[in-house]
Amino acid sequence: MTRETWATRAGFILAAAGSAVGLGNIWRFPWVTADNGGSAFLLVYLAIVLLVGVPGLLGEFVLGRRGKKSPVGAFRDLSGSRTWGLWGVFYVVTAIALISFYSVVGGWILRYFGESALGLAGAQPAYFTEPGAYFGAASAGLDALGFHLLFLGLTAVVVYAGVRRGIELGTKVMMPAVLALLIGLAVWAGTRPGAAEAYAFYLSFDLATIRANFFDVLGPAAGQALFTLSLGAGTMITYASYIDEDRSLPFDGTVIAVLNTLVGVLAGLVVFPLLFSLGVDPSQTAPGPGALFVGLAGAFSQLPAGALVATAFFGVVVLAALSSSISMLEIPVSFLVDEYGLSRPQAVALVTVAVVVTGGICAINPTIAGVGVFGFVAGPLVDTLLTAGLAAVLVFVGWVMGRDAVTELRSGAGGVTDALATPWLLAAGVVLPIFLLFTLLTNFGVDASIGFWPTVGVAVLVAAAAFLGVRTDRSLV
Ligand code: TRP
Repeated sequence: MTRETWATRAGFILAAAGSAVGLGNIWRFPWVTADNGGSAFLLVYLAIVLLVGVPGLLGEFVLGRRGKKSPVGAFRDLSGSRTWGLWGVFYVVTAIALISFYSVVGGWILRYFGESALGLAGAQPAYFTEPGAYFGAASAGLDALGFHLLFLGLTAVVVYAGVRRGIELGTKVMMPAVLALLIGLAVWAGTRPGAAEAYAFYLSFDLATIRANFFDVLGPAAGQALFTLSLGAGTMITYASYIDEDRSLPFDGTVIAVLNTLVGVLAGLVVFPLLFSLGVDPSQTAPGPGALFVGLAGAFSQLPAGALVATAFFGVVVLAALSSSISMLEIPVSFLVDEYGLSRPQAVALVTVAVVVTGGICAINPTIAGVGVFGFVAGPLVDTLLTAGLAAVLVFVGWVMGRDAVTELRSGAGGVTDALATPWLLAAGVVLPIFLLFTLLTNFGVDASIGFWPTVGVAVLVAAAAFLGVRTDRSLV
């Protein structure tokens, strides 16, 4: 059987952008930004997207298109080493961790969508009256479990339909709808009473504040940049394995990163004015994961056609979330299809059953040793897995693929890429793995206990050991 490829030129861009654009932009970005001081976070985040995100994205693309397999096969075939193949299984595990909490949040969104639609019929949506209490009750326990199952089921149906009919067609409809609705809402939010304060909180780039908070926001900013670009879990490796050699990877990557950033920044332009208009000041009280739900619910309830706007908004967010969750489920599915010869339906069924359980635990959200499972998986666990995952991809690209990676990046690309390909490989293969290791260490608080430079030293040493350990005759350096 020949491997499926995207049916149209726009198919890959749309699907990859559809994967990138999701709850990470609309739900996670506003609350992580708020929790980390607003504009001080935003600028660092944007810099990381540009300097780490885009080259990292190209790393996954090059590996995927060259390998023409899901992560396990790509790592193994391109290196000729079983050990690297085994490392590929790491991405399967990461993807399952991701979808476990993601489909719980997707479930919340589905529920708000349903409530809003019911509210159209006359009575107000139930969450209008007490947004905070409603979110508290809906976000965990048996209710959350039910909606998690529903969201997971929808995801499974699209992945079951395959690359062209499912993923490609689905995202073609979703992406433009998401953009159009967010622009409309951002414009409207700008007319709300809190807009001026919100813009000051979100967009006033004060260098002194940025300098004072730089190392505190570095880890969360890097984590958010990877999450929102779908990096570090093999998604972009897998999607790139379905593209032809004549596409320009740098062009596609840039379009995807720009689109994705636009949606995140737009979501902030929607959520922050609404929070401020409700009297919620994110610099005083961290709004947490409920920011989107509580902020918007309060705002929608003040609108004349509130239930209608709410239905449209949550409907669009459901679509954005689905085009991302399918890209997570696709990783274990393509792994089982490529490596064990399962049929697509069998693979989808098997993975779905596994996530019914793992996601179910996140939905019920028990507290183990004082830590809520949901918060742990959605926060530190995923940040760590993604950072380690991308670092390994980049080490592989720079030191195992080496010159082949440059050739692959150039294939289908224009003249600009010829000049940039080698500097890109040096950045991706050397500087970025060190940077990612460093952020990992700061996430574990290592810089707080041993100091900044010693932490940099540890990152350099670990990276150097990795470089030497995997070096091939194709390595650039
Ligand atoms: N980027 C998506 C979002 O912002 C989530 C996502 C999909 C993802 N696939 C991924 C995150 C792979 C990390 C890795 O909602």
